[in-house]
Amino acid sequence: MDGLPYPIVVTDDATAETARFVAQATRGVAVVADVAVAGRAAAIASALEAAGCQVLSLHTVVAGERFKRWRSVATLHDRWLASEVDRDSVAVAVGGGTITDVVGLAAATYLRGVKWIPVATTLLGMVDAAIGGKTGVDLPQGKNLAGAIWHPLAVIADLAALGTLPPRIRSEAIPEMVKAAVIGDPSLLELIDGTRADAGMAAWSELIARAATVKARVVASDPADRGARAALNLGHTFAHAFEHASRYRIRHGVAVALGLRAAGILARDRTGWSGQDQALMLRALRRHGLRTRLGRMDTRAVLEAMRLDKKRSSGSLRFVLPVRLGEVQTGVEASDDEVLAVLDQLTRPPKRAGY
Ligand SMILES: NC(=O)c1ccc[n+]([C@@H]2O[C@H](COP(=O)([O-])OP(=O)(O)OC[C@H]3O[C@@H](n4cnc5c(N)ncnc54)[C@H](O)[C@@H]3O)[C@@H](O)[C@H]2O)c1
Ligand SMILES: [Zn+2]
Repeated sequence: MDGLPYPIVVTDDATAETARFVAQATRGVAVVADVAVAGRAAAIASALEAAGCQVLSLHTVVAGERFKRWRSVATLHDRWLASEVDRDSVAVAVGGGTITDVVGLAAATYLRGVKWIPVATTLLGMVDAAIGGKTGVDLPQGKNLAGAIWHPLAVIADLAALGTLPPRIRSEAIPEMVKAAVIGDPSLLELIDGTRADAGMAAWSELIARAATVKARVVASDPADRGARAALNLGHTFAHAFEHASRYRIRHGVAVALGLRAAGILARDRTGWSGQDQALMLRALRRHGLRTRLGRMDTRAVLEAMRLDKKRSSGSLRFVLPVRLGEVQTGVEASDDEVLAVLDQLTRPPKRAGY
């Protein structure tokens, strides 16, 4: 996959691929895995040993947002020091986004930085979280408030792991794929729309590769996250506010689906985004069981959450909006009244015009 200076490998043989990349780099390796994929991690560890690497430490942790804390990073460092993981070692993270975010940050900071490889086992990790080198933890004040950009040696998407991923968690990655399609690959939208949840691995593999390519391309154009990468926030200013205002009862993927519709509604008058494109986007989301209508929610609290988020950037509310399929515009300012009008419409079913 082009764009980034390191490969993204979508494979049904993640054990061999991981061993290949690690063996090229070093002998010593520290594996950290989500306990939900302990079997995959054991298989990877065996392949590493067979390739002549020494697995200095292998341990499992319980994934989830509660794992994304400073304390988890410190625990990993303690473990690695005790196992004599050194500066030439490679850290391998096997799991979803919460695992790769934390292990990536632990690798970025251990002995001032050791190499690492994320092996993504969730669909969201494969199309989004494991790509781009952003690592981090949550602070009590909010999500992802501490972290580092620390690029890996390679990103491995472990297709074999998807077999055990519950359908609900799998569907939470669909909005990120739809986002990728809108940002930079219009025909991917049709592909998502035409893929059934029970489709075979070949179909999913194609979707993953296409969505991952869009993310890789955007990241490659802005590796230090200073400009173009903002496009990846499409739907996310709204989404983060829905997550926050619902006290995280609305999960990220579900919030992004709603956020994409909201961005489309706002874009109607601001960028000329067409009702036809909006309808195609909503159809792909609904096809995979995602709702596109906001339930009962205090819209003032949503607005407040957006403001809090923005305090950390630059004052006024700015949005990434779709222009047409394959093109977005970043930094579009909107007033509180405009945002409230969008939220109001979001509580109603989409009109025939698409929005
Ligand atoms: N760094 C980035 O650029 C970036 C981008 C997007 C999201 N993220 C982060 O990613 C996180 C969300 O990622 P996620 O959805 O992968 O979360 P996750 O790591 O919590 O995984 C979701 C659930 O799936 C389970 N699981 C993982 N693989 C499995 C498998 N193969 N079979 C069965 N169960 C499995 C986990 O145990 C967990 O319960 C968030 O914290 C988000 O902030 C980071
Ligand atoms: Zn997201």
